[in-house]
Amino acid sequence: MRIDILTIHPELLKSPFEHSILQRAIDKKIVKIKLHDLRKYSNNKHSKVDDYQFGGGAGMVMCIQPIANCIDKLKAKRNYDAIIYMTPDGKRLNQSKANHYSTFKNLIILCGHYKGVDQRVRDHYITQEISIGDYVLTGGELAAAVLCDSIIRLIPGVISNETSALSDSFQDNLLAPPIYTRPAEYNQWKVPKVLISGDLKKIEKWRHDKSVELTKIKRPDILD
Ligand code: ADE
Repeated sequence: MRIDILTIHPELLKSPFEHSILQRAIDKKIVKIKLHDLRKYSNNKHSKVDDYQFGGGAGMVMCIQPIANCIDKLKAKRNYDAIIYMTPDGKRLNQSKANHYSTFKNLIILCGHYKGVDQRVRDHYITQEISIGDYVLTGGELAAAVLCDSIIRLIPGVISNETSALSDSFQDNLLAPPIYTRPAEYNQWKVPKVLISGDLKKIEKWRHDKSVELTKIKRPDILD
């Protein structure tokens, strides 16, 4: 998968891809991340990427020209499955969207700033608008990093034990069951007996029952 991220702060997006599982996915060439500094696409002599709102109002608006130039250049080279704009008024990101995007080959992600982008970018270039939650960040970069992380870890070969991604919370509309590791007893707090019984059928049933119980308590809204 190739992901092109359009931003006015590319440096903000370097670190999330330089560690752990995401870095490994890049090293293994399963995913390619390309950061594009929108200022470099500006025709303005001061590399300006924003301007005042027509009609007045507080806050600057990201101009269409640098964004359009960058997207046109990318689209001339390959087909994109989606052009996503990160914005608090977009559709909420969830596991099912991450699953869907993880099957894509080429993806563009636009990070907003200031008041947002000129509406014509949204009308003529953007195919999906995604929010990571009902709160406003200073820009779309951290949201884009969250989106990329949720997608990349689902691509086959990224997480070595594939069942580990399949048993995540939300994957089947259930939260994950409690997990334990050694020691089996700590401060007299014992691990549930069934987990050390060796009876795989019983363990599977216990995990499923716990998932249902936890989901009913913590997230009844996601229960089928
Ligand atoms: N940009 C600013 N806030 C955001 C949010 N909550 N989700 C996605 N992009 C954003």
